[in-house]
Amino acid sequence: MRAAPGPHTPSWPLGLDGIAYGGDYNPEQWPREVWDTDIALMHEAGVNLVSIGIFSWALLEPREGEFDFAWLDELIELLHAAGIRVDLGTPTASPPAWFFATYPQARVVTRDGTVLGFGSRGMAGPSSPEYRAASVRITTELARRYGQHPAIALWHVHNEYGAPVSDDYSPSSAAAFRAWLQDRYGTLDALNQAWGTAFWGQRYGEWAHVGAPSVAASAVNPAQRLDFARFTDHALRECYIAERDAIRAHSSVPITTNFMAASCPATDLWAWGREVDVVSNDHYLTAADEHPEVGLALAADLTRSVAGGKPWMLMEHSTSAVNWQPRNVAKRGGEMRRNSLSHLGRGADAILFFQWRASRSGAEKFHSAMLPHTGTSSRVWREVVELGAELGRLAPVLGSRTRADAAILWDWESFWAQDLEWRPSDDLDHRERVAAFHERMWRDGLTVDMAHPEDDLSRYPLVVAPASYLLTAAGAENLTRYVAGGGTLVVSYFSAVVDEFDAVHVGGYGAPLRDALGMSVEEFLPLRAGERVHVGWSGSELTGDVWADDIALAGADVVASYVDGPAAGRAAITRHTHGSGHGWYVSTRLDVAALAPVLAAAYRDAGITPPGLPEGVEVLHRESDHATFTVAINHRDEPVEIPATGTELLSGDTLTGALKVPAGAVRVVRTPR
Ligand code: GLA
Repeated sequence: MRAAPGPHTPSWPLGLDGIAYGGDYNPEQWPREVWDTDIALMHEAGVNLVSIGIFSWALLEPREGEFDFAWLDELIELLHAAGIRVDLGTPTASPPAWFFATYPQARVVTRDGTVLGFGSRGMAGPSSPEYRAASVRITTELARRYGQHPAIALWHVHNEYGAPVSDDYSPSSAAAFRAWLQDRYGTLDALNQAWGTAFWGQRYGEWAHVGAPSVAASAVNPAQRLDFARFTDHALRECYIAERDAIRAHSSVPITTNFMAASCPATDLWAWGREVDVVSNDHYLTAADEHPEVGLALAADLTRSVAGGKPWMLMEHSTSAVNWQPRNVAKRGGEMRRNSLSHLGRGADAILFFQWRASRSGAEKFHSAMLPHTGTSSRVWREVVELGAELGRLAPVLGSRTRADAAILWDWESFWAQDLEWRPSDDLDHRERVAAFHERMWRDGLTVDMAHPEDDLSRYPLVVAPASYLLTAAGAENLTRYVAGGGTLVVSYFSAVVDEFDAVHVGGYGAPLRDALGMSVEEFLPLRAGERVHVGWSGSELTGDVWADDIALAGADVVASYVDGPAAGRAAITRHTHGSGHGWYVSTRLDVAALAPVLAAAYRDAGITPPGLPEGVEVLHRESDHATFTVAINHRDEPVEIPATGTELLSGDTLTGALKVPAGAVRVVRTPR
C-alpha cells in the first residue's frame, strides 16, 4: 500500500488567520504611482495575500550573475506596511532572453524535432544542467534576501510545472533519460525485457543507443514512451525539489508550487503532493461546457485528494473570462462567487485569482482580473469587493475538512499509457469516463474523493474505477482486498488490461480483477463511429456506444445483457459477491443519464443514500472538531430550500430546520457538533 502524503507545515500561509484572498500581482507592468492605488484598492477588496515575482527573472537578473532587487525591496516593504502578506514567486518559469542566447542548447526540442524559441514564456529543458544551475542561483538569491522577511507568508516555486513545457527531446534530455533508465533497470537485459524489445527487432545492445522516443516511422514502443512520461514527470519534480531545497536552506516559510490538477497531463500529482508544504491549484472553467461547475468540482475534488484531505489553496482562478480558449465566455453575475465557494466547500482555504490588475500589454490583455480595464465602476470589481467581505465572515471554516461519500480512481500513469498510439479504438477516452462517473455522482449529490488504486480505500463504501487501463498487480490485489473487506467496486470497460510495462496481463484482459469481479474479458468489441447498442435494464433499455466486451463469466451474476450489437444476448453489466463486498463491471459507454440506475444499484450495495437534492444544487460539508460547515450552492434560476440548522455565516441568521438559498446564491451554515 502506498504511503499517505507526508507531513505538511500546519500553518500556512504564515500569519493569516482567515481565508486567504487576493491573486497574482504584477506591478512591474505598471508605473510606480499605480502601486499606491493598488494598495488602497486591495484594502477595499479585503485582499490579504498577493503572489509576486512569478515572471520577474529578466528584471531581477538583467545580466547573468547581476542582480537588481531594488524594485522588489520597495514592493515588499509597501505590501508589508499595508499589512498585505506576500506569496513570493521564484521566476524560473520564464528565463530571460540572455539565458537562451547564452545557452541555446538548453532550449526545448519537441517530439518532432522543433527547437522552441524565445518571445513567449516557458522554462528551458527540465534536464538542462545550465537551466538547473541558473534557476537554483536566482532562487538562492531570493531566499537569502527575503527568507526571513516578515512579509513573506509563502513561497511560490516556479509556475505550473508541466505547462507549457513538459517533455523535451533535446540531447541533454535524452542523456538524462538514459541515466534514469540505468537507475530504474540496472541492466540492459532488464530494460529489453521490460520494453518487450523482441518485438519489431528493437533489442538494444548498448546503452548509448537508447534514446528519447522521438517521432519515428511508425508507432513507437509504448513501454519506452510510458517510461519517458515517467521520466519527464520525475525531471520536472527534480527541478522543483532543487529550488525548494535552495529556499529551505535560508527560510522556514512554507513552500508550494501551483498545480493544474485535472488539466495538466504531465505531472503525477500523487508524487508531487508529498513534496509541498501545502497543495495549491490553478483552475479555469471550460467555457464550452454547459455546466462548467461540474468540471470545477472534479478539479477541486482531485486537488483535495492530492492534499490528502487537508485544506488547500486555490492559487488561481478567474473573475470572469480567460483569453486562451476558443470562445472566452464571461462569467455572469454571481458565478464567480459560486465558483469560489464551491472550491471552498471542497476544501480550499485560499481563494486567489489570476490576476489583480488586468494587463494592458502582452498576450493576456483580454484576460479578466480582479480590477478590470474599466476599473472600479465595473460589475466585476463590485463582486470582487463583496466576495472579499464574505470570505472575511467565513474565517471559522479555516482548517476544517471536506467530508467525502465515495472515491473515484485516478492514476496519471494509467492515463499516460492509455493515451499512446494504436489502442483498440480512437473513441476510448479515460477523461470522458472519469468525468461521466463524477458528474453522475455530482448530480446525485455525493462528494467524491479521487484515489490511487494502491491507496488504502477502506474508508470508502464505494469505489469507482472508470478507466484503470494500467493496473499493477499490487493495485489489483488492493482492489480485491477492498471488495473482500466489504467495499463496493464499480469497474468500467478497458480496465486492468496491462501492467506497469504496458504489457497485457498474463491470463488476459481483466484477469487480475477476476476474483473481485467474477469475470474477465475474452475479446474487446469496439463499436463503429456512431454505432449504438442497447442493454436491457429492469424492463427498459439503456443505450451504450463506443465499446462492448465479450465477457467470460467466472461466477458473476449477469445484471443486464446486450439486446443487440456484437455481443447480443451476452452479459453487458455484471455483479459479483466476493467476501463481504461486491464487484460490478460495466462493459459499454453509458452517458451520465444512463449511468443513473446502474450507480443507484451500486449505492444500495454500498449503503449510500443520496441526499435527494434538487438538480443544480451543490451541498458540501466541511467538518472541524467543533462544527460542521454546510456550503449550499444554488446554480438554478429559482430559489431552493434545503434542511439545515445552525447559523448562516454570511447573514448571521439563525436557522431552525430550513435554509432558503435564493436563485444563483450561496449560503454557508455552521452547525455545532
Ligand atoms: C495560468 C498561469 C497564469 C496565467 C493564467 C491565465 O494559470 O499560471 O500565469 O497565464 O493561466 O489564465
